[in-house]
Amino acid sequence: MIRTIEWHDGSVRIIDQRELPGKTVFIDCQTYQQVAEGIRTLAVRGAPAIGVAGAMALVLAARGAVTDEREALMAVLKKAHAELAATRPTAVNLKWGLDRMLNLALGMKGDAGEMREALLSESLRIAQEDEELCRRIGNHGAALVPDGASILTHCNAGSLATAGYGTALGVIRSAHSAGKRIHVFVDETRPLLQGARLTAWELKEEGIPFTLITDNMAGYFMKKGDIHLVVTGTDRIAANGDAANKIGTYTVAILAKEHGIPFYIAAPYSTIDLSINSGDQICIEERCAEEVTTIGGVRVAPGDVRVANPAFDVTPHRYIHAIITDMGIIRPPFSEKLASTLVAQ
Ligand code: MRU
Repeated sequence: MIRTIEWHDGSVRIIDQRELPGKTVFIDCQTYQQVAEGIRTLAVRGAPAIGVAGAMALVLAARGAVTDEREALMAVLKKAHAELAATRPTAVNLKWGLDRMLNLALGMKGDAGEMREALLSESLRIAQEDEELCRRIGNHGAALVPDGASILTHCNAGSLATAGYGTALGVIRSAHSAGKRIHVFVDETRPLLQGARLTAWELKEEGIPFTLITDNMAGYFMKKGDIHLVVTGTDRIAANGDAANKIGTYTVAILAKEHGIPFYIAAPYSTIDLSINSGDQICIEERCAEEVTTIGGVRVAPGDVRVANPAFDVTPHRYIHAIITDMGIIRPPFSEKLASTLVAQ
């Protein structure tokens, strides 16, 4: 399986997802600012993966601090936390990972050396846990996939978007390894083609049968009866079950409802944000115009055009059949069940 992110000899090693599938290039980040840049530019991407990257970046911040004095070290960590949290606002996992690290440091009594060691161990734990959570999501979700099913997915919620195994692709992987004969429809996912570049690459590596389609073909195949269920990842789930995910997911959810096809989202508990009541409170990241006016670096639009580029949209909970989590499958009414499941954990 592809190592998306790892601690490697004092640096944070990430696979540069901007280069995939053409080239396999690794970036060794020695400073937290380099990790921040990697997150901002999508060298590392996907909600759980940026949570792990943020956590490891704080280890770099602590190690790079030229002080052993507690208050000064905490100031460095808080500054790095703020800079990293600002890189991408939609996925809650980033803030979740950063908060977990900062809270550990705040609660510690030891000296600077002990703090640095504890931060490193915690970041490795977060990475290891994430992979385990994905495997649990996969096992729970596989039960929802009938033998012979054809599944549509959007964007990339695979190994590359997590510390390993994936969420939506974890469900697909688990169903495949359980011997179910499945087929996947992969939305290319404009503007940055995470489906065509990354999901198609992962499925090909795994030998899972798939067909790549452009985003505007989903309705056509649903109407023909070629798609039996949809499963995607998500970047943030509000207390009422509304879920943000890659732009275009909302359209897919509406299409699925129109055609009577179950629409599932898959995520670890770290993606659930009970601090917000609904998806209206989720900040949607707006990215640069060039991502829309160009494809693979080649300009496709005339110069000087007005462009909108929201990176995510929110699917209202009424379109979601179930949320597949590491804690099990959560069905509506989400406002009651999300809170009780999370508290029981
Ligand atoms: O902009 P990206 O590529 O980071 O967007 C990723 C997605 O929308 C994923 O579906 C989501 O983060 C879930 S990943 C398990």
